[in-house]
Amino acid sequence: MKVISTERSQVLGARVAASLGVELVDVKFSRFPDGESYLNRSGLDDQTIIIGSITDNDALVELLLLIDACDTSENTLVLPYMAYARQDQRFKDGEPISARAVARAVSRGVSRVKTINIHQEEVLSYFDVPAEDLSMAPDIGRHLQQMELTDPLLLAPDEGAARFVADVAAADGWDCDHLQKTRHSGDHITIAPKSLPVEGREVVIIDDIISTGGTLATAAGMLRVQGASRVDAICVHGVLTGGAYAHLCASGVGQVIATDTIERACSRITAADCITRSLQD
Ligand code: R5P
Repeated sequence: MKVISTERSQVLGARVAASLGVELVDVKFSRFPDGESYLNRSGLDDQTIIIGSITDNDALVELLLLIDACDTSENTLVLPYMAYARQDQRFKDGEPISARAVARAVSRGVSRVKTINIHQEEVLSYFDVPAEDLSMAPDIGRHLQQMELTDPLLLAPDEGAARFVADVAAADGWDCDHLQKTRHSGDHITIAPKSLPVEGREVVIIDDIISTGGTLATAAGMLRVQGASRVDAICVHGVLTGGAYAHLCASGVGQVIATDTIERACSRITAADCITRSLQD
């Protein structure tokens, strides 16, 4: 078995290969003069673990080329982050189900797929091969233990993320809750935890994706006003578009921490152990 990765997932790919104790396939990535992607890989084994986050359209094309270049082996595809997963249904007439289109495209040439904290588990049914979603909750829990916070309160930004945050909190029996928006009048909205007060508490808001960071920045500001002694933010997928990282810091968030499903300077938690555990099962 060997591990191969796209250019966007090269650090995570190398970490998985090292933790599995298998060889990493060398790949040269470049562009044709007209902008088309090109790649050339070194030798494969009988089985290949292909690791490639779809972060944007270029990354999708690169992943399709990489899968095609691995057509001499039996392939497992690890999709640490899957863009388009949020368009998981037809919200308006005439729209595509983008998650389905992407899932079908990357299924060709692989025999199974592993995703990580995919936005909706329903997306797994769109792949044409068996697909399984892995959770970074235990790994985030371990990272939180190393942060040595004092009796932290873990908050999900909405009810949808509450289950995931409860799984993270289980690592150390921490308190957890989810944020609720209350509209007091036309233009007066407050955001506060559903049940637990934040006064004097070290708060960590945990979400699957931080994209623009909009909701989280507003919530962080309000939690500070409600007396939280500190607010940090952790996400699995640091999409961080439109200056989200700086926006969050400027809104009073102490630390913004992501995993390496999208490789960023703030990727301080690796998904390599989670992927390795699943491949060894
Ligand atoms: C939404 O359902 C997701 O779980 C995230 O909460 C969302 O994508 C975050 O978006 P933003 O960072 O733009 O507020």
